[in-house]
Amino acid sequence: MQRIPFGPAGADAPAVAAGMMRIAGASDAEIRELYTAARGVGIDFFDHADIYGFGHPGGTGTHHCERRFARALRLSPAERSEITLQTKVGIQTDPPGYDHSYRHIVAAAEASLEALETDYLDVLLLHRPDALVEPEEVGRAFDHLHAAGKVRAFGVSNCTVGQMRLLQGGVDKQLLSNQVQFSLARARLVADGFAGRGDGLVEYARAEGVTLQAWSPLQGDGGTFIGSPAYPELNAELSRIAAARGVAPSAVAIAWITRHPAKMQAVLGTTNAAHLREAAAGADVELSREEWYSLYRAAGNPLP
Ligand SMILES: NC(=O)c1ccc[n+]([C@@H]2O[C@H](COP(=O)([O-])OP(=O)(O)OC[C@H]3O[C@@H](n4cnc5c(N)ncnc54)[C@H](OP(=O)(O)O)[C@@H]3O)[C@@H](O)[C@H]2O)c1
Repeated sequence: MQRIPFGPAGADAPAVAAGMMRIAGASDAEIRELYTAARGVGIDFFDHADIYGFGHPGGTGTHHCERRFARALRLSPAERSEITLQTKVGIQTDPPGYDHSYRHIVAAAEASLEALETDYLDVLLLHRPDALVEPEEVGRAFDHLHAAGKVRAFGVSNCTVGQMRLLQGGVDKQLLSNQVQFSLARARLVADGFAGRGDGLVEYARAEGVTLQAWSPLQGDGGTFIGSPAYPELNAELSRIAAARGVAPSAVAIAWITRHPAKMQAVLGTTNAAHLREAAAGADVELSREEWYSLYRAAGNPLP
């Protein structure tokens, strides 16, 4: 699989990552099958969050999906070292809110280490912006986790350019990534750029070497747009290009993301091994400029 730069310091990552948000109800065997399928196509990057699986019946509150992943896989130290484990903290469940205090970040990261049964997290993201954030406090939490060998690198999620700049001002460690919603059917990041709106996050990320991670890369209104009658033109165009390239329509939707010169990483969320293999193949399909714009328009996105 094509690899992309991960942050500005020369690290790399697969152009597609496997998101673990939906594995709460999967059996050990299903999680192993999904993991094996991912590794088989070159995905060695797994995205978690402390809140994935929260509220799942019979679950364990927060950290449920992290725990299910670790218990199903029982990775040897050697295999653990082959993969990138990324998780996210900063969402409070009880009472609901966001918390980027030193105390919360450190405690939640340590609970993720325990749930994932690992000594270190490769990447820790702040899941959503906290209106009450004190950047220096985040910096202290990151320094502590890094110095203790518990977290190797840091990033954010769902942040604007202004929020990234504010945070980076108080944090010594370079913020490597920003995980944001982006798909053919949720294309505001690029659509705003055509209209002179938005905050220029894509351009900021390119200029600063921040990797944008596209979450929900196959989602539109009311679930996935793949095969959905709500997106007839988009599906016709995905199918046309898929047939010409000998891949599945989902692969073309992923190729639309990885074709962008920002070199984004698509974070797939399927729990179906066959779906994962099909969609991940898109990372190695290079769409033409005409195909990219044609898909953009077929999804109903505006071109002023
Ligand atoms: N940072 C954030 O705020 C944030 C928010 C949401 C998600 N995320 C991350 O992004 C990841 C992906 O999110 P997502 O699950 O919404 O993304 P997605 O890959 O766009 O959607 C996956 C869903 O689409 C379904 N689907 C239907 N047909 C499919 C096909 N042909 N191929 C693939 N999937 C198909 C899957 O069902 P099957 O399982 O049956 O294939 C699954 O329910 C999450 O796991 C999480 O790691 C981050």
